Amino acid sequence: MKPINEVKINLLSCSSNEAFARVAVASFIAQLDPTIEEINDIKTAVSEAVTNCIVHAYSERIDTVYITVRIFENRLVKITVRDRGCGIDDVKKAMEPLYTTAGGERAGLGFAVMGSFMDKLNVRSKLGKGTTVILTKQLSYRTRANG
Ligand SMILES: Nc1ncnc2c1ncn2[C@@H]1O[C@H](COP(=O)(O)OP(=O)(O)OP(=O)(O)O)[C@@H](O)[C@H]1O
Ligand SMILES: [Mg+2]
Repeated sequence: MKPINEVKINLLSCSSNEAFARVAVASFIAQLDPTIEEINDIKTAVSEAVTNCIVHAYSERIDTVYITVRIFENRLVKITVRDRGCGIDDVKKAMEPLYTTAGGERAGLGFAVMGSFMDKLNVRSKLGKGTTVILTKQLSYRTRANG
């Protein structure tokens, strides 16, 4: 399937870039005129995925986070957040709600949040190589009061 529009954003894993990432993705998707709820859902999911790159993938260093946003026919949006960090040993386990390797510091709810705010969540990872998170959302067809 070929996207009808696409943007790639590569940023360093400084915590200050998390806010930029979520706003940048939201502003690209704004061309589809999403609802406030849809845009907030997307921002929340992107925020969780990018935060995971910053705090888990690159816990020992600052490195690049690769974000691709693709818009397909019929208002389908796919966002890929990729890192070349430490990777995840057991993806299935990592995706369980409340599972965290960060001790008492974090809630272990990031993947659960991504899964509930998006229509589909796909995670691929290789230990020592990195992780790719694919977030998919089908935007609704809005009926407008003012045409
Ligand atoms: N990009 C990543 N690279 C390496 N490990 C990751 C990555 N994303 C998630 N993980 C692993 O998966 C676990 C679960 O992630 P999740 O986002 O659900 O919870 P968390 O980040 O620990 O807590 P929270 O998101 O609630 O602050 C993490 O604790 C971490 O071990
Ligand atoms: Mg997290």
